[in-house]
Amino acid sequence: MKLADILSRADGHGLVSIRPMRPEDMEEVREVGQIAWSDMVMHDIGRKFRYPKRSPRMIEAYLAMEPEGCLVAEQGGKIIGSAFCHVWGKVGWIGPLEVLPDHQGSGVGKALLRACERHLEQRGCQVIGLETLSHIPKHLHLYLSSGYSPHSTVLIMEKMIDHEGAMTDEVEEVTVSSLPDVLPELVRLSALMEPSLNLSREAKTIVERHMGNVYINRRDGEVVGAAFLHTYQRGEEAAFSSIKAVLVDPRRADAASIYDSLLERCEGASLMMGKKRILIRFPVRDPVLYKHMLKRSYQLKGANIRMVKRGQYEERGTYHVASWAG
Ligand SMILES: CC(C)(COP(=O)(O)OP(=O)(O)OC[C@H]1O[C@@H](n2cnc3c(N)ncnc32)[C@H](O)[C@@H]1OP(=O)(O)O)[C@@H](O)C(=O)NCCC(=O)NCCS
Repeated sequence: MKLADILSRADGHGLVSIRPMRPEDMEEVREVGQIAWSDMVMHDIGRKFRYPKRSPRMIEAYLAMEPEGCLVAEQGGKIIGSAFCHVWGKVGWIGPLEVLPDHQGSGVGKALLRACERHLEQRGCQVIGLETLSHIPKHLHLYLSSGYSPHSTVLIMEKMIDHEGAMTDEVEEVTVSSLPDVLPELVRLSALMEPSLNLSREAKTIVERHMGNVYINRRDGEVVGAAFLHTYQRGEEAAFSSIKAVLVDPRRADAASIYDSLLERCEGASLMMGKKRILIRFPVRDPVLYKHMLKRSYQLKGANIRMVKRGQYEERGTYHVASWAG
């Protein structure tokens, strides 16, 4: 998006424009997120709740990866909303999207959403989707009326980590120096899971920006599994880490054991980083992975809904995870 997108629809406080976020918007964007989510949670649970501010390191990483796809809605020089686009190969997803409570209900959210979709189309994304809370009528209306169809239920599971699991040496950590060798392998592995998916840029960002760790599992020299762990919350609000994605070659008969070795490594690393809990989100199509996670002592904490506006997205195999939560 080259020019600021001036909305003809004002919300009573003056015209609203949508433009790419700049690094100096960081603090305002963090505050908008905190206020919007605190208000949403308060309405949802019926009592006051102060939502933590998003990590600056995470916003910086979003900006570095998709500078034209991090958008703010501005009115009279004040930021009143923000939205973030993510490009994983030909898969584009949107999140988080937030608007200050006083400015909600006047079209700002929908305008940000449309601007994100335009950005992802320009970036060549064949799949465009997002994940949202499945029990909030406003959210469902917002996305259904914007052309999104329900795709799958996304489970949110959590494990308390109080002891280290067996740290298998089958799994290696990706370092800055091993990235050039590993990235082409991740391109190949992503496509095995879903032809339009490419998580190699995500891996590069996690490793280079110290957002967490990327682990790989090799069999006969070939990468057959990879896990993407975010631990960046450290030193800030969160006592948890989160597994952003796990890729396992769906053709492997030993897919479950490859998956387990990667999870064990993520859990052990989280504990070493001082985390008390580890979070994982994955779309559920059948109960197999859910039951597997129960056996690994994960508990179900909630569910989101994945919605897709454009394209076909079908993940292959059972033992993999990819969350579109920003
Ligand atoms: C979700 C959010 C971004 C929407 O922003 P917004 O500026 O209020 O959105 P808009 O005004 O563009 O559109 C809201 C739509 O929901 C409708 N709506 C409002 N309250 C509703 C309700 N209780 N039930 C059903 N629809 C509702 C509005 O009428 C409007 O639809 P319309 O254009 O067909 O009339 C904003 O509420 C927010 O920041 N929430 C907190 C953070 C969050 O939950 N983000 C979403 C993450 S997926």
